[in-house]
Amino acid sequence: MYLPLFVVLTLFVSLYSANAGDYCVADLNLPDGPAGYSCKKPSKVTVDDFVYHGLAAAGNTSNLIKAAVTPAFAAQFPGVNGLGLSIARLDIAAGGVIPMHTHPGGSEILAVIQGQICAGFIDSANDVYFKTLNKGDVMVFPQGLLHFQINAGKSTAIAFVSFSSPSPGLQITDYAFFANGLPTDLIATTTFLPKDVIKKLKGVLGGTN
Ligand SMILES: *[C@@H]1O[C@H](CO)[C@@H](O)[C@H](O)[C@H]1NC(C)=O
Repeated sequence: MYLPLFVVLTLFVSLYSANAGDYCVADLNLPDGPAGYSCKKPSKVTVDDFVYHGLAAAGNTSNLIKAAVTPAFAAQFPGVNGLGLSIARLDIAAGGVIPMHTHPGGSEILAVIQGQICAGFIDSANDVYFKTLNKGDVMVFPQGLLHFQINAGKSTAIAFVSFSSPSPGLQITDYAFFANGLPTDLIATTTFLPKDVIKKLKGVLGGTN
C-alpha cells in the first residue's frame, strides 16, 4: 500500500522540524509574558535570529549619566528568548555612571573590556561589596540586588554584561523615585529625604508632583 504523497511530505517535514524544541525564537509580533515571547514558526527562523549586530557600536553617552546601556534582550535579540540568558553593552564616558539599579529577572556577570570601572552591589542584609575593576576583570551581581557601575578612570570604559534571563529587566532607583508622579510628600515620608532634595531631583529627572 502506498502512502499518499502529502502524508509522506508531512512526515518528512515534521522529522526535519524535530529540532523545534531546541529553541523558541521570539515572535515579536505577539506580546511578551512571564514565560517569555511566543515562538516564531520554525520554518520562519533564520540564522539572523541567532546573530545580533547591535552591540558592535558604542552607545550614545551624551546624556545626564554620561553612560549608555545597549541591551540585547529578547525584545532586541529574538534568538535568546527561552534560553535563560541575554547580554548588553555598557559604555561609560569619563565621569559617567550607571546609577543604582536592579534587574528583577536575572543575575548579571560583567566583564570589563576597556578602562576602569568601580562596581558594587548591596545584598539583602545591606552588606556592601564594591571594587575597582580593570580590563579583563569580571564581577557578578546576584539577581534582584541593587548595584551600580562608575567610570573609575580618565577615559571611556566599556564592559559587556550577561544575564541569567532573556528579559532581566532594568529598574533605575532614582528614576523610580524621581521620574514619575509619585507625590513629594509620599516620597519624603517613605524615604526620610528632605522635600527640597526630592523636588530638585524630580526637576532633573522629569518627575512631577
Ligand atoms: C547623542 O545624543 C545627543 C542627546 O540626545 C544628541 O544630541 C546627539 O545627536 C546624539 N549623537 C549621536 C551620534 O547620535
